[in-house]
Amino acid sequence: MNRIKTIERILNALPLRRTSPKQLQAIMRGMDLSLEALSPYIAEPADLPYGRTCLYRTDAAEAVLIHLPPGTETYIHDHGVSVGCARLLEGTLTNRMFRLDGYGYPCLSGEVEIEEGSYYYAPKKQIHQLRNSGPQRAVAFHLYAPAPAGKSYFPYEQVLDYVI
Ligand SMILES: [Fe+2]
Repeated sequence: MNRIKTIERILNALPLRRTSPKQLQAIMRGMDLSLEALSPYIAEPADLPYGRTCLYRTDAAEAVLIHLPPGTETYIHDHGVSVGCARLLEGTLTNRMFRLDGYGYPCLSGEVEIEEGSYYYAPKKQIHQLRNSGPQRAVAFHLYAPAPAGKSYFPYEQVLDYVI
């Protein structure tokens, strides 16, 4: 059974609708997420600033493989009604957290450095951005429940225009 089939089998067997990030982490600890097996699924950036490969998706959950080349970052976003857990399989990342000001624009509220091999979480209502400031690519496995829908992006450029 190949790696993706194994991920499908594990996720199909679970009731995921009311899952917490910590419960997602426990599920991920039961998966073999070695980079060797997942490397054929690493995508280059196309319509997004980073590569994103959907490995599994139902209404209940989505598993994706994320690839941020050096010097790239995601848009500032939330995850709609979903929660998430992720494991950084290669490289380093900065997880930048934001809160909305009175005008609805994102203001940086904190940054956390993520080391290779560690887990990080997307609790409900989190607004964040992942940035790869390191010299090598960053590859991460992300698991969301339910599958993200109604995700919002926050236009940081407009904030800069406003400030300037
Ligand atoms: Fe995210």
